[in-house]
Amino acid sequence: MLIDGRPTRTIWPAADGSGDVEILDQTLLPHAVEVTRLASLAQAAHAIRTMQVRGAPLIGATAAYGVCLALREDASDAGLDAAMKCLIATRPTAVNLAWALGQMDEAVRPLPPSDRYDAAWARAAAICDEDVEACRRIGEHGLELIRKIVPRRADGVVKVLTHCNAGWLAALDWGTALAPIYAAQAAGIAIHVWVDETRPRNQGASLTAFELGQQGVSHAIIADNTGGHLMQHDEVDLCLVGSDRTTRTGDVANKIGTYLKALAARDNGVPFFVALPGSTVDWALRDGVRDIPIEERAAGELATISGRAADGSVVSIDIYPAGSPALNIAFDVTPARLVTGLITERGVCAASEAGLLSLYPERCTP
Ligand code: MRU
Repeated sequence: MLIDGRPTRTIWPAADGSGDVEILDQTLLPHAVEVTRLASLAQAAHAIRTMQVRGAPLIGATAAYGVCLALREDASDAGLDAAMKCLIATRPTAVNLAWALGQMDEAVRPLPPSDRYDAAWARAAAICDEDVEACRRIGEHGLELIRKIVPRRADGVVKVLTHCNAGWLAALDWGTALAPIYAAQAAGIAIHVWVDETRPRNQGASLTAFELGQQGVSHAIIADNTGGHLMQHDEVDLCLVGSDRTTRTGDVANKIGTYLKALAARDNGVPFFVALPGSTVDWALRDGVRDIPIEERAAGELATISGRAADGSVVSIDIYPAGSPALNIAFDVTPARLVTGLITERGVCAASEAGLLSLYPERCTP
């Protein structure tokens, strides 16, 4: 997608042939667009942990490149084991991380150490390209859902509510939940997006709003508690969110607060769809509330907020009473019964084991 009119991805091999990797540093958006270089396994792990890169597919892609950087230093079995151990510990909830590491391990471990480095770069690049294609297809399938809503609106403007950032900044390109919106825009459908601010890190306000603005999609940022009111007043045709881990039974882990939007959507008869590539399904899990590991982050992310000061500098300020404890849970689980459907690269299905298996029959045995 575009930044200042230039097609951009979120991660790429450095063009100077150094064997480094470059990323858009998402902790600086929307106030600055800066590219950061990753030159080691430690830097790749740091970028994931500190959320310079974030979003389930992008976490997986960064981990894949992290393996490449690790193998540049040490391509032995021990080096590979250490890289896997370091990267898997960076963020617990998005299963794309484990998925991508599994793909890398499968591609390089059977090879002699001397062949592993080149094979790792090839597989990491393929993981990125496959994600772009998966997201493009999610966009196509989601577009058909949006098309059906158009006649419902006298003015033809379809109103979509989204939470957090499941756009191209969370993936390589297109995004998951935002891909159908970009596809609708390209198809000439008028669309308006309600962007949940998404406390505490404000990925909606700082990332989703940024990318929709760059793409020229009509949108407005709303405080996280506004969605229910908008749904009661027929201002939302469709909720569209992403996922960090979806069980084989269709329970969906996504950014904290997603569950409350699903409850409000059910109460108001608003369709609630989740867009995800197959790499986000955890085929080993059945009960999302019980079994999906939920990340808890530092309370400081709640207690401070950063923004641009009047003099143009970006500053961080305290907003809580000194000494008040805070609890920062990063994800919640929306049970499958509240999910109208899953939009995947293979089509749209019910949020259920039968639904997922109809699209991924090769997963019939867990
Ligand atoms: O904590 P984050 O910013 O990594 O959380 C991101 C989300 O919750 C997204 O909705 C999810 O990863 C879907 S990504 C296409």
